[in-house]
Order: sequence, then structure tokens, then C-alpha cells
Amino acid sequence: MILIAGYCLLIYSIILPALISATKSCDLDELQKLNKNLKVDTESLTKYQWIAGQLEHNCLTAELESENITDVIQLANQVYYKIGLIQMSNDQHLRAIDVFEKIIIDETYRDSFGRLAEKRLQELYMDFGMWDKVHQKNENYEKYLSLNETIRKKILSKDVSVEKDISELLRITPYDINMLSTHIDVLFHKLADEIDISLAAAIILDYETILDKHLATLSLDSRLSIHYIISVLQTFVLNSDASFNLRKCLSIDMDYDKCKRLSLTISKLNKVNPSKRQILDPELYAFERRESTYWDMIIDFYLRDEKPFIAPMKILNKDITFKNNYSFLEEIIKQLIQDVQLSRPLTTNLFDDSSKTDYTSKPKSYYHTDYLVYIDSILCQASSMSSDVKRSKLTAPFCKKILKYSLTLETWNHYQDAKSQQKRLPDTVLDDVWNSNPHLLMFMINSILRKSKSKHHSQSGRQLHDQINKFFQDNGLSESTNPYVIKNFRLLQKQLQTFKEQKHRNFNQQYFQQQQQQQQQQQQYQRQQAPPQGSSYDPKKDYYKILGVSPNANSKEIRKAYLNLTKKYHPDKIKANHNDKKESIHETMSQINEAYETLSDEDKRKEYDLSKSNPRRNTFAQGPRQNNMFKNPGNGFPFGNSFKMNFGF
Ligand SMILES: *[C@@H]1O[C@H](CO)[C@@H](O)[C@H](O)[C@H]1NC(C)=O
Ligand SMILES: *[C@@H]1O[C@H](CO)[C@@H](O)[C@H](O)[C@H]1NC(C)=O
Ligand SMILES: *[C@@H]1O[C@H](CO)[C@@H](O)[C@H](O)[C@H]1NC(C)=O
Ligand SMILES: *[C@@H]1O[C@H](CO)[C@@H](O)[C@H](O)[C@H]1NC(C)=O
Repeated sequence: MILIAGYCLLIYSIILPALISATKSCDLDELQKLNKNLKVDTESLTKYQWIAGQLEHNCLTAELESENITDVIQLANQVYYKIGLIQMSNDQHLRAIDVFEKIIIDETYRDSFGRLAEKRLQELYMDFGMWDKVHQKNENYEKYLSLNETIRKKILSKDVSVEKDISELLRITPYDINMLSTHIDVLFHKLADEIDISLAAAIILDYETILDKHLATLSLDSRLSIHYIISVLQTFVLNSDASFNLRKCLSIDMDYDKCKRLSLTISKLNKVNPSKRQILDPELYAFERRESTYWDMIIDFYLRDEKPFIAPMKILNKDITFKNNYSFLEEIIKQLIQDVQLSRPLTTNLFDDSSKTDYTSKPKSYYHTDYLVYIDSILCQASSMSSDVKRSKLTAPFCKKILKYSLTLETWNHYQDAKSQQKRLPDTVLDDVWNSNPHLLMFMINSILRKSKSKHHSQSGRQLHDQINKFFQDNGLSESTNPYVIKNFRLLQKQLQTFKEQKHRNFNQQYFQQQQQQQQQQQQYQRQQAPPQGSSYDPKKDYYKILGVSPNANSKEIRKAYLNLTKKYHPDKIKANHNDKKESIHETMSQINEAYETLSDEDKRKEYDLSKSNPRRNTFAQGPRQNNMFKNPGNGFPFGNSFKMNFGF
């Protein structure tokens, strides 16, 4: 870069003075040399233009011998052609047309640049729909004519399906300004039915094409209002960044009121809103912590305070009433969109009748643009992040609102099934929603888990929980710094435990029944062998020891210990080929179950504690379970770390 700049300076300081001193006469040699040394890029544009000027003023007018005229024209053609190319690369196609047209395409001087320029020109004439200048009208012209006629008729009958025909015609002549304007007109007309992102994006594209290709022909007023309209649509309909167009607008006229106010409004909102990445990037959502006060401030801004965040903009000269900044923002968006619809430049209202499509009577939902959905999303997230109950409640409704707006009907139905029937979600849903709006997914998971609390634990419920658990693991969310994510993670783990307990209980019940049968057989056998020895029930049986907890253990600790033990003696671990082992596990498990069922029930536990301290009051322990056979009842059950050794696995 520096080298090139240095090189240019050299040219300026050495060659240009020489040329300027020779301006009176045509120094073809020097001009040719200068041309040869220039690159075809934007930086050289002014130098090419200078050469072209020299040629026009000094050479083409000078009386030259015919052979030298040929040289001059050849150089001029070459310079014009290069200027045209540079203009085209800068999207200045109309200017390119102007210079290409200067190239002398005469049989006598016909050279390679003349032919190239001719080809370019024909293409450009077609792009701009300048059919009268097109020499060889190909099949595209026929197509154009028939489309043009269809469009004319449809416009007369105000048929909105004309949009398709115009789009097709614009494929043949993409820069035809009349067609572009007509297209914008139809798009606005359609936008009046529903604020659709793709319509707004198409309007922006058309206006940008007009700005690019027809800049020179646009009045300043048109340019200002086009930049303004693009900015409004980008900000409030597409929810995208409008700073480029706002800057352009203000660089044309820094006092242009509409752009000034819009810019101020956007910057005030941007100061309050979290960045989009913060709301939409799952990584940031899960692993970047924001204090709850940060979210409280946002809630207060939108829903609490009573002054508007910016002086009311009376764009439509209407008084504005509102109860908070959120409804104020709703009003602003409504007025800005109406303003854009009513004052669009370069269009002629071909489709709206004289009464003008009644923009003012649209329902509120019409103006609920993507920008507002985004604000809803922020407030929904704030609801779960705020540590203040009142603020949480105030913002909670926004979650329902945003779900309705942002889930597809299909996903919405899957979500409802997961909630009401505990049905597994399609695999893509979790990732899809997570990657587009992480908080929304967390909110959905929270609703599903909260619903499942009250539900019977079914097989499908288990699958759903496993699916969600896998999602948490795949995304490393157990390590999240987001308290809401962690809250959901804990809730999920708790419910997964319940499933496990359930499974074990079912399993153990089966074992217990088998065991009972065995026991009856054995008792029969014992009766045959010896007279019955009375109850084998030992009131001193220590359930606390069985579970390996202290007598002061709270219910949580008891539960934990129980789960720990069931895990240890999980039936999957039993190798069925060893009968002794199997038997001892049956015994152990029934002990553990017995202990847990007693100690996990507050009433039973109280009774048990009493009966332990006062053996006579032994109303407890009456069922068949208490008649278990202990091989070594006196040894107690050294659960815990030594347990493994006792049972040898
Ligand atoms: C025409 O050009 C040649 C070199 O290209 C030069 O020698 C000659 O002087 C020129 N004639 C005139 C009249 O400029
Ligand atoms: C296309 O139709 C318009 C009227 O709708 C007309 O003014 C224009 O001349 C037509 N273009 C061509 C190339 O026929
Ligand atoms: C709106 O925001 C402004 C500026 O932050 C604040 O001072 C004002 O109290 C808020 N007003 C409403 C209506 O919420
Ligand atoms: C669970 O078992 C492991 C060993 O398997 C032990 O380290 C841990 O302390 C146990 N936890 C409880 C709550 O008993």
C-alpha cells in the first residue's frame, strides 16, 4: 500500500508538472506513458480522468496528421474504457454508460477497446431497460415486452399478483428504475396486510439498487428519505443494524430531522438493551454472568418508570398516550411504520385507492414487529434473572408471548405434547431453539419439568428426561454460570432420581415377591426340620446402620444414602451365575428397602425411633418384611466403603 502510494506521489511530482507545463499542446507520448503506468483501480480514477481531459482538450481538437489522430483516438478509447470499468466496479453503472458512450466506435478507428465497450454497453442498456439503444434484441426482449404488457394490465385492475411478474421482469432489466419503483409500490401495498420480514427486505433491496445505480439522478430529498426508510425498516422490522444508512443520511444532511430523531431513539434503546449476541448466542447465555440488578434495570426501563425515554416524536402530529416505555416504544414503532408507508419516495401509490389503505386502523398485533419480539425476549429472560419477585411477575407474561411468536406451529405442538403427555421432543428441536434463542429453550424446559412434577412417571416421561439430560451434558450446561440454567439442571436431576427410585422400587418389589415364596418354602422346610422358633424379628434391628447414616440424619441424607446403595446393588451388576451372591443381594436389598421405607416416612420413623428406645411399644414392624431371614443379624450391615468387601464384588 505504502509502495503504491509512494509510486503515485512520484508520478504526481515528476510527470504531472511536466504535463501541466505542456497543456497547450498535445504531448501524446507522455500521455501514453502515464496511461501505461497506471493500474485499473479506483485510486487511479482521477488520473485517468485527467488524461481523458487532456486528450479531449488538447489532442482531439489539435490539427494532427491522420496517422496521429488514430493514435490519439486509440489512447482515448483505452482510457475511457478503463474509466468505465472502474465506474462499474464502484457500482456507478450509469456513469459507466456515459463514458463507454464516448468511445468512438467508428469503422475507421475500430479497435479492441471499441469492441469491448460496445459489448458492455449493450449489456448495460439491457440491465437498465434502455431498449431503444439495444441493437440486437434477443429473446429476452420478447419476454420483456410480454411481461411489460401483463404488468400494465394487472396494475390497471389493481391485481397484487403482479408482484411475481415484476420480479421476473427485473431479472431481465434489474436496474430499470421505473420497474423498481413499481415493485416497491406493490411491496408496500402487500406490507399493509402483514408486516412481513421478506417484504421489508425486498423493499430495502430495491431502494438500495436505486441508490447504487441511479445515485446521480436522485434528488437530495429522495436520497435522504430513502436512507431514512431503509433505517426504519432495518431497525424495527428486520431487527438489524441500521447504522450505515443512518450515517449516510446524516452525512448528506446532518440536520435532517427524521434521521436525527431515529438515530437518537435507537441509541437510547441500544444503551438499555443487552447486545444481540448476549440474548441469542448460547455460549454467552450459558457462560457469561450478568447480575440480577442488570436485568432489574431493564425491567424498570420498559415497564416501571413513568416518563418517556425520549421526547415524544410527533411525526404524525398525533398526541401519544402510554403507560410505560414499552407501550411508548410500541407507539413509536407504529408511527414510524405509518410514516414510512405514507411517505415512500419514488412511488406513485398505484395500488392504494384514494382513501389510502387505512394504516391507522391496524390492530396492535400488526405492529408487533420482530424488534418488539426481541424486546419481549429480553424481558422474558429478565424475568428469570431478576431476584425480585415483583419484577419477575411483571415480566413473566412476555415469555408466553414470545413463545407464541417465535415457535413454528409444529414445534409449538411438539412442545405442548412434551408438556402435557411427557412425550419426547424431536431431536432437532432442542438444538434448534437453543441455537436461535437459548433462553427460550430454558424457559420451555422449565415448563416441561414443572409440568412433569405433577404427572405420573411414565416410560415416555423417562425418555423425555433422558433426552433433556443428554442435551445438558452435550452442551456442558452443568457448568453453566447462568443461575436459571443451573436451577433447571437441578430440577432435572431431582426428577431423574425419582425415576431411578421408581425403577428400583419396582424391581425390588419383584424380588420381594420371589423372596416371599422362597421364604415360605424355607419355613415349610424348617418346620419339617425343627419346631418353629417364634418371630425372628429383632426390635433392635438398626435401620440407620443398614443405610449407613447417623440417627440424626435428615431426610435428604437418608435419601442420598439409599440411592447410593441401590446404585451399588443395582440388579444389572448381579452376575446371575452365582447363586450365593444372588441370594445375599436379595437379602441386602430387602433390608435396604425396609430401612428406607421406614426412615423416609416421617411418621414411621418417629414410631420406629420410639420403639427402639422402648421395645415394648413395638406396634411397628408387623408385615412379612420384618420376618426376613438374616444370616448374620448380629453383625449388622457394614454398609459404606466396606460393603464391597463383605460381598466380594
Ligand atoms: C505523429 O507521431 C509521430 C510519432 O508517433 C511523431 O514523430 C510525429 O512528429 C507526429 N506528428 C505530428 C504532426 O504530431
Ligand atoms: C412497458 O410498459 C409501459 C407502460 O406500462 C410503457 O410506458 C413502456 O413503454 C413499455 N416498455 C416497452 C419497452 O415497451
Ligand atoms: C423510560 O426511560 C427513561 C430513560 O431511561 C426513564 O428515565 C424513564 O423513567 C422511563 N419511562 C418509562 C415510561 O418507563
Ligand atoms: C456413596 O458411595 C460412595 C462410594 O461408593 C461414597 O464415597 C459416598 O460417600 C456415598 N455417599 C453417601 C451419601 O452415602
